[in-house]
Amino acid sequence: MAVSCIHIVFLLCLVPATVASPRTRRLRKSPTDIAATSPPPSDPSRPTTFFEVDRPLRPPPGSSGPCSTLLLSASFAFTFTKPPATAAYSPPACLAAAGGGASAISLAVLEWRATCQGVQYDRIFGVWLGNAELFRGSTAEPTDNGIVWSVSKDVTKYAALLAAGNSTLAVFVENLVNDDLTGVYYANVTLHLYFHGGGSPATRPPPAVGPADLIVPMSRGLPLNDGLWYKIQNASDVQSTSATLPSNTYRAVLEVFVSFHGDDEFWYTHTPADGDANGPFREVTVRVDGDLAGAAWPFPVIFTGGINPLLWRPITGIGSFNLPTYDVELTPLLGKLLDGKPHAFGLAVTNAMDVWYVDANLHLWLDSNSTSTAAGLVSYVAPELVTNTTSSRTTASRTISATGWVSSSYGNITTNATQAFAFENDNAGDNTINQTTVANAGVSATDLAAGVLYYSVQTTQRFPLRFDSEANGVTVTHGVEETTVAAGQWSSVGPRYRSLRTTQRSVVEGGGSSWGIGQTYRYEASDGCYFRNVTSSGYNIVSDQSSEVCEKGVPAGDGR
Ligand SMILES: *[C@@H]1O[C@H](CO)[C@@H](O)[C@H](O)[C@H]1NC(C)=O
Ligand SMILES: *[C@@H]1O[C@H](CO)[C@@H](O)[C@H](O)[C@H]1NC(C)=O
Ligand SMILES: *[C@@H]1O[C@H](CO)[C@@H](O)[C@H](O)[C@H]1NC(C)=O
Ligand SMILES: *[C@@H]1O[C@H](CO)[C@@H](O)[C@H](O)[C@H]1NC(C)=O
Ligand SMILES: *[C@@H]1O[C@H](CO)[C@@H](O)[C@H](O)[C@H]1NC(C)=O
Ligand SMILES: *[C@@H]1O[C@H](CO)[C@@H](O)[C@H](O)[C@H]1NC(C)=O
Ligand SMILES: *[C@@H]1O[C@H](CO)[C@@H](O)[C@H](O)[C@H]1NC(C)=O
Ligand SMILES: *[C@@H]1O[C@H](CO)[C@@H](O)[C@H](O)[C@H]1NC(C)=O
Ligand SMILES: *[C@@H]1O[C@H](CO)[C@@H](O)[C@H](O)[C@H]1NC(C)=O
Repeated sequence: MAVSCIHIVFLLCLVPATVASPRTRRLRKSPTDIAATSPPPSDPSRPTTFFEVDRPLRPPPGSSGPCSTLLLSASFAFTFTKPPATAAYSPPACLAAAGGGASAISLAVLEWRATCQGVQYDRIFGVWLGNAELFRGSTAEPTDNGIVWSVSKDVTKYAALLAAGNSTLAVFVENLVNDDLTGVYYANVTLHLYFHGGGSPATRPPPAVGPADLIVPMSRGLPLNDGLWYKIQNASDVQSTSATLPSNTYRAVLEVFVSFHGDDEFWYTHTPADGDANGPFREVTVRVDGDLAGAAWPFPVIFTGGINPLLWRPITGIGSFNLPTYDVELTPLLGKLLDGKPHAFGLAVTNAMDVWYVDANLHLWLDSNSTSTAAGLVSYVAPELVTNTTSSRTTASRTISATGWVSSSYGNITTNATQAFAFENDNAGDNTINQTTVANAGVSATDLAAGVLYYSVQTTQRFPLRFDSEANGVTVTHGVEETTVAAGQWSSVGPRYRSLRTTQRSVVEGGGSSWGIGQTYRYEASDGCYFRNVTSSGYNIVSDQSSEVCEKGVPAGDGR
């Protein structure tokens, strides 16, 4: 990523080399070397398509559209320390024709499509609308014949921003071009909107579980010469945004964007035995007025130049083209936040080394029938992080639980939010790392007096990572196992059950003379399924099966 580039290019060249992390150099091969030594694609006359395995996005039945609008088209050459590319945004005319409001949108898809040719590092980039981050990705590393990749991200949850009126779309690709690094990125950002059919209220999302009414960005705002993310350089660095909540807020969720670069790009490889006191455990913590409100234990995204770039060609690493985000439920804490005064929303990274790019969006649901809601905190329990570090094994665990009520025109609803995390990393210094992150979260919203469950969402996530390196090769296996179960009156229209299991295994052998990737992806939900099994050898796809047929055994749902 750009920051490692800064280290490799700038620090190695301009600053004493001791400043550059040896770790960074060990786990990255320079794109110049890769370009010089790796075999060319089988058809060098055409650009190679790189892709991340993901499910296709389907609008709910009865939707109209898409209505597609090119929001921005730009090139990114020497952008380092320069302002982001920007474009004026106004809601597309088709949105006005469909009723104008955010609730007319049944599915919004942001499509990123980019090309690059030559020699270049993978670069981090972000897309912000009205200073709120919508999408973060890593670029693909180019080849001499050129590459192309595209990503479609579901951005329906930002419907309020898309419909809100005129604002600025900003795209920052942190790139650096010189005699050796010649790759210029060309990118198009397109918005595809689908609308609810017939405007039937039955198809409109119920309160609190549909897209938020207001999204408050927690980022560095425009104008600036950089990305809008905050840069967290060490464990004591807390980046805060001050915000005053509307007095009629009845639900609040903070969505965290995070990526890791420079000395911490490969945080999971750090060991105390290596003389690295920070060890391999990292988490993003969310603080409200200084108190721990929740956490995000990140999926170890490996960018397209990570470890050995060949590991990710042409099937890129899980989450690398479309980085995952993490939600923290803040509703139980509204009792502290509805006083009409500004409050500090802080982001920090436990054990951080230089540098983490973090920002967040505060999603707020507003009671349109009243000018003010009332709220109170019932209980809050957040014991200290538990860690245990030996020379070859690091474990960590944490639970955070809060309960609070919010009284609005929907009733007096008590929300209970719990997060429970576990982490283990085995690294005996024998060139094998075995790491597992578990993140479980539950939210339930109940009217205790009326005995009504409005919604509950229980999510379990497991992120296994295994890394074996040998003198002449490396194998990386990682995956996502995620299950979400929803219940309650307001959950009746969304999928009640969703499960994703994906595993990717990438192997480089013979010092880079051959490589291969295999990935299976199985998504099963009460509103649809997707299965794919794809394998590659070198730049060629060897086998590729996919299906959208649900097999027996998927819990039945109401559909949507
Ligand atoms: C962006 O869109 C323009 C206009 O349609 C097209 O000429 C160009 O090739 C596109 N660029 C990319 C990277 O897709
Ligand atoms: C929003 O932008 C459009 C296109 O530039 C312009 O026609 C319109 O007057 C603007 N609306 C407002 C409220 O500024
Ligand atoms: C941590 O980072 C902050 C922000 O860059 C800096 O002000 C502070 O001096 C750093 N602290 C340590 C202990 O390095
Ligand atoms: C830490 O882990 C080691 C090795 O697994 C174990 O022997 C020790 O009891 C643990 N210490 C604590 C305080 O849990
Ligand atoms: C909000 O007000 C509208 C119009 O008065 C009414 O139809 C609706 O039931 C109210 N909703 C709630 C949740 O009170
Ligand atoms: C809402 O319910 C909680 C507990 O169930 C209660 O303590 C609180 O006073 C209620 N609030 C209102 C405004 O009725
Ligand atoms: C909140 O949910 C957790 C996990 O489901 C449960 O253990 C706890 O008792 C609940 N707390 C309250 C106050 O309802
Ligand atoms: C990795 O660690 C997990 C959890 O301890 C364990 O279940 C698994 O067997 C280990 N895998 C390998 C390949 O060592
Ligand atoms: C995926 O495809 C490979 C190659 O055809 C095959 O060996 C493997 O069994 C398949 N895996 C699954 C889960 O279908």
